[in-house]
Amino acid sequence: MPPTRSLITGGAGFIGSHLVEHLLARGDRVTVVDNLSTGRKANLERVTTHERLRFVEDDLSSALVGSVADERFDEIYHLAAAVGVRKVLDDPIGSIETNVIDTIALLRFAETNGPSAGRLPRVLIASSSEVYGKSGEAVFRETDDCVYGPTSAWRWCYGCSKAIDEHLALAHHARHGLPVVVVRFFNTVGPRQVGEYGMVVPSMVGEVLAGRGAKVFGDGTQSRCFCDVRDVVPVLPRLLGDGSCVGEVFNLGSDQPVTMIDLARRIGGALGAGVEPVMVAYDRAYSPGFEDLMRRKPDLTKIKRHIGFEPTIDLETTIRDVAAWLEASGGVGIAGASRGEGGSS
Ligand SMILES: NC(=O)c1ccc[n+]([C@@H]2O[C@H](COP(=O)([O-])OP(=O)(O)OC[C@H]3O[C@@H](n4cnc5c(N)ncnc54)[C@H](O)[C@@H]3O)[C@@H](O)[C@H]2O)c1
Repeated sequence: MPPTRSLITGGAGFIGSHLVEHLLARGDRVTVVDNLSTGRKANLERVTTHERLRFVEDDLSSALVGSVADERFDEIYHLAAAVGVRKVLDDPIGSIETNVIDTIALLRFAETNGPSAGRLPRVLIASSSEVYGKSGEAVFRETDDCVYGPTSAWRWCYGCSKAIDEHLALAHHARHGLPVVVVRFFNTVGPRQVGEYGMVVPSMVGEVLAGRGAKVFGDGTQSRCFCDVRDVVPVLPRLLGDGSCVGEVFNLGSDQPVTMIDLARRIGGALGAGVEPVMVAYDRAYSPGFEDLMRRKPDLTKIKRHIGFEPTIDLETTIRDVAAWLEASGGVGIAGASRGEGGSS
């Protein structure tokens, strides 16, 4: 059997770099397109010289009509995006354009990229729990309504842009038979995630490593479910490889909620630090009127039914591994934490 030819957009990013390693270990020939806007070449240092890896540093839209235009792929993992609440608040126009225009280009590319052995490439679209918006449901099911705030609140443009990506992908499947799978990642955490763009675990770990208390926004009772990237990544090729998943939307993550104040204390405990969390009002952390979500918990019934997903890595292990990575990488995420970030993303 010839190796599976896989394209990973955003492959130098946090989730993408773990996926690159996983697919290379599976025997794939892997092409990565990444403009290094939030990703880092160092994330791929373990595989930089791998003979089955091709790294293209470019904007996705230009790479698709340029350096990878003539490559044929069996599987495409579309992870490139503007990610994180802080990034979207800082640059709403760039974030919306990246998340929508690049996905339009990617889906059109996929439809003309083939057929390989008589079929179109299978395409995984990375979406987000943010598509649920401020839905008041205790548990989010894939068929639930998406509920957003006003368009004047930048916070919602990330979720809305991902929702448009989902509509586009499902429409390409319905109208042109493109085999797509949409994955709504809930909070995915682990080594190589940086705090700079508002991600809470590396931000808090960075604060604690720097000897300060972890910053907790609001009253700290808001909760999230954290899943280790090393549990999440092996699921992605399984979803693309299972015909029953094509044309479907899946929640992916943990369903064990942790409040932000508990998270701060568990990080202090796991790292043996005796520092108390520091409470920060939302208005100071973001901007006046910022709306956070009190909870975000996935219903995992569907993904369990299709492929039997079960997370295995506990939060304390993840926290210690994030800390070890931050220290070994010279404090990449600590810089983010010192800017005062670390909401609930
Ligand atoms: N990490 C999470 O908890 C989480 C949660 C929900 C959704 N997601 C989704 O998963 C995907 C990966 O997220 P991540 O956490 O690894 O973030 P990340 O920022 O580490 O990865 C995104 C990558 O895309 C690259 N990129 C951005 N715009 C690009 C462009 N125009 N052309 C080429 N490359 C570009 C960046 O340089 C980066 O390497 C994203 O689509 C994100 O929306 C992640």
